[in-house]
Amino acid sequence: MPKRFYLFCVLVLTIGLSLAGCEQSMHDSAGRRVQPVKDYRAKDFSRLKGMEGFSDMLLENHFSLYQGYVKNTNMLLDKVNSLIKSGEVDSVEYSELKRRLGFEFNGMKLHELYFSNLGNRQPCDPGEAIYDAIVNNFGSFELWKKDFLATGSMRGIGWVVLYFDPASGRLANFWINEHEINHPAGCQPLLVMDVWEHAYMLDYQLDRRKYTEAFFNHIDWKEVAARYDQAVAAVETSAGSTAEAPQAPGGGSLEMTEHSQQSEQ
Ligand SMILES: [Fe+2]
Repeated sequence: MPKRFYLFCVLVLTIGLSLAGCEQSMHDSAGRRVQPVKDYRAKDFSRLKGMEGFSDMLLENHFSLYQGYVKNTNMLLDKVNSLIKSGEVDSVEYSELKRRLGFEFNGMKLHELYFSNLGNRQPCDPGEAIYDAIVNNFGSFELWKKDFLATGSMRGIGWVVLYFDPASGRLANFWINEHEINHPAGCQPLLVMDVWEHAYMLDYQLDRRKYTEAFFNHIDWKEVAARYDQAVAAVETSAGSTAEAPQAPGGGSLEMTEHSQQSEQ
């Protein structure tokens, strides 16, 4: 057998065994599927560079801050797990790390949602289910926008998040203090806007309103629409095919539209 062919066979066999091992690790001893545990890794949002209204320097600084949240989340989880294993769960260090975890974890997740819902200039398409849901909840798209931007003008550092409540079909703009305070339990974030000073001061100084308008002009509505469609589909799946679709305030149905059904396929 030629040496090169032999090496090729060994390589294929090694990869096959590795994949088999991975597959094994995704099931517990009873054969049930288990989600593998892995560290968080910073995502690459460099595609946003060059976006009008956001200097590259501001974006690069912002990416660095986000990467810090990812690093600190992994570090905190490791330290907390070490303290659990060593039985030090009544220590001051354990308590303080637990308090800090919500800050770092939400700082990581909110930045990922924020960068992911940026980078497009297309307006919200009235053909999307998210557009109808906004109108049904707020009376008109403009009224919702007014509330979203007004929430973003509030004093303090934090976030504005358009949340979807699967239990009621309601949409609401929530003010989030820092990263972790005021999130509505059980709700899905659809649109996320950072209003910490690092998100705009380099380009806009104290003019936060001008920044929020620039943000609004670059929302990736396809991403927001997909988040809404996915959340509604999850409601329908859990309720079963015969259950009623959630109703929006004002009587509008939040049933999946033709578009959202197509996006699922
Ligand atoms: Fe930020």
